[in-house]
Amino acid sequence: MSNASIPAASRPLSAAAAERFAREVAKYPADQAQSAVMACLAIVQQEQGYVSLESEKVVADFLGMPQIAVHEVTTFYNMYNQHPVGKFKLNVCTNLPCQLRDGARALAHLEKKLGIHMGDTTPDGLFTLQQSECLGACADSPVMLVNDRTMCSFMSEDKLDQLIDGLRSASAGGAA
Ligand code: FES
Repeated sequence: MSNASIPAASRPLSAAAAERFAREVAKYPADQAQSAVMACLAIVQQEQGYVSLESEKVVADFLGMPQIAVHEVTTFYNMYNQHPVGKFKLNVCTNLPCQLRDGARALAHLEKKLGIHMGDTTPDGLFTLQQSECLGACADSPVMLVNDRTMCSFMSEDKLDQLIDGLRSASAGGAA
């Protein structure tokens, strides 16, 4: 069963996060607080940019579940960041159907353009480059997600260049 507030012993999250946790838990029957685990992890990530082991502990304590069970959720879904990431997280699908339609080439092009390897973040903190599992848009390959939300399809090298240049410009102009 959930606590009323985040434990004082480990308080990496704000009081607002605790209130949001409680609102999520309230959506479920009293004995099913664990059903809110994904929503709580999303709140953590919105507030901190990633889900640390300490934050997993806070969520676990709040929901009354083992920390390892929270960790299993964090590590199963690649929308949860286990480490700090750049301002723009780029996930390129490299599953087999996309591999057959230039998915790997798109990833290699981004590595070259950004000067980093898959899994790394650019020194300026702007871009993190990752692979992803199937995004459910195989016919649109090469496909990628920006910040877990914006799907980009048919990403030719020209379109990849435009995307990166556009994000750089938007960032320099103060837009997210
Ligand atoms: S394999 Fe890439 S979207 Fe399905």
